[in-house]
Amino acid sequence: MSHKVSVLFVCLGNICRSPTAHGIFEKRLRDRNLQDQILVDSAGTGDWHLGKAPDPRAQSYAQNRGYDISHLRARQIEPSDFELFDYILAMDNQNLANIRSMQPADYRGHVSLFLDFLDEEEGREVPDPYYGGAQGFELVVDMVERACDNLLENIRSRHPGIAP
Ligand code: 4NP
Repeated sequence: MSHKVSVLFVCLGNICRSPTAHGIFEKRLRDRNLQDQILVDSAGTGDWHLGKAPDPRAQSYAQNRGYDISHLRARQIEPSDFELFDYILAMDNQNLANIRSMQPADYRGHVSLFLDFLDEEEGREVPDPYYGGAQGFELVVDMVERACDNLLENIRSRHPGIAP
């Protein structure tokens, strides 16, 4: 079955923030049996970690909250992603600027910060946890969980055909 909607999460390395979002959103879809209707993937704007599994810290903080992201492998965003994905969601403003610089003029999908799906006061960027401590990774899971819930609600309100 072909998907009705597709979502790409994008960060810098595709080993911390975007795979965490990918795994959390993937579980939301599986729990609601929506995985055949909504496609999810993730990518990085950088190419340092191609083919690598998520950072062990990202894996362990996700696992603590019930998300297995060990199967994901890093890849870099590419021009064909603008043909495949309806939503391309950036973790921070640098990622967003990089996506916009690649975006074809005729792209009709949605490009924004992922946290635009959270209320204003909660902040706009998912802070890069790579060079920081444990709280950074915990914060990523907290922010991403809430934004994933809102994103799924938003998609379902715009695409009433998506059931159950
Ligand atoms: P991510 O985190 O963008 O959330 O995957 C980073 C991973 C690696 C690097 C920077 C950020 N790095 O500089 O290698």
